[in-house]
Amino acid sequence: MEYFDIHSHILPGVDDGSENMEESLAMIEVAYQEGTRSIFCTPHYERGKNSYTKEELNSKFQELCKEVEKVHPDMKLYLGNEVLYADGVVDDLKNGLIQTMNDTKYVLVEFNIRISYNELYQAIRKITNARFRPIIAHVERYHCLFKHIDRVDELVRMEAYLQMNISSVYGGLLDENARWCKKLVKEDYISFFGTDAHDLDDRAPYINDYVGWIEKKCGEDALEEMFVNNPIKMSKNQYLI
Ligand SMILES: [Fe+2]
Repeated sequence: MEYFDIHSHILPGVDDGSENMEESLAMIEVAYQEGTRSIFCTPHYERGKNSYTKEELNSKFQELCKEVEKVHPDMKLYLGNEVLYADGVVDDLKNGLIQTMNDTKYVLVEFNIRISYNELYQAIRKITNARFRPIIAHVERYHCLFKHIDRVDELVRMEAYLQMNISSVYGGLLDENARWCKKLVKEDYISFFGTDAHDLDDRAPYINDYVGWIEKKCGEDALEEMFVNNPIKMSKNQYLI
C-alpha cells in the first residue's frame, strides 16, 4: 500500500519542523522507506506570527519538490498549512492568506488543546459556514473531546473531518489515551492519519510500527480508506462519501 501522510512539518526553514533542506530530504527518505508515497507539507500558520508569506511558502515548496524529484520521482508532495484557530482565521481563509490543502476547500486546523467544547463547536461552524471543510488536526489532543463520543459524533455530523496522529494508537490496554484513540478508529470517526513529523528523532515520519494494529482490528479496506482513498479524494477537492 502506498501511504499518504497528510500532516507533516517537513518543509525546511518555515516553522518548528525541519530546519534545512538536508534534514527535509533525510525525513523524506525515512518516509519513503516506510512506504509513504505522498506527503502533505503542512507548516504551522499562526495569525500575525508567520515568518513567511504564502508566496514564499510556495517557492520553498517548489524547491523541495525539485530536490525530491531527483531522488524519488515517485514521491508526490502537496502543500497545505496547519492553521492555529484564532479570531480572524476565517477572514484569512476568505482572503486567500492561508494555504488550504492542495488549494482545495479542505483546511487542516488545530486548536488550543484546552479549548472548551462550545468554542470548538462555534469555530467549526464558522469555518463550514464560509464553505471550507475543516480537518481537525490530531483530534486526540483536545481535552473537551476526550471520552466524549457524543461531541465527536456531533462534529463529524457538522462535516468536520478528523485527523489522528498515527503514533497515538500505540499503547496497551492500560493506556487510556491509546484506548480512546483506538475506539475512535474502530468506530469509524477518523478520516485521515498523519505523522505530524517534525524531525528525525522523537517525531520522525514513521508509519509501519502502527498500521498493523489498524489492519488487524479494522481490516485492510478501512486502512486503505484512511491512508489512500480519503486523501486522494481530499487532494482533488472531492467529498469523501
Ligand atoms: Fe502539526
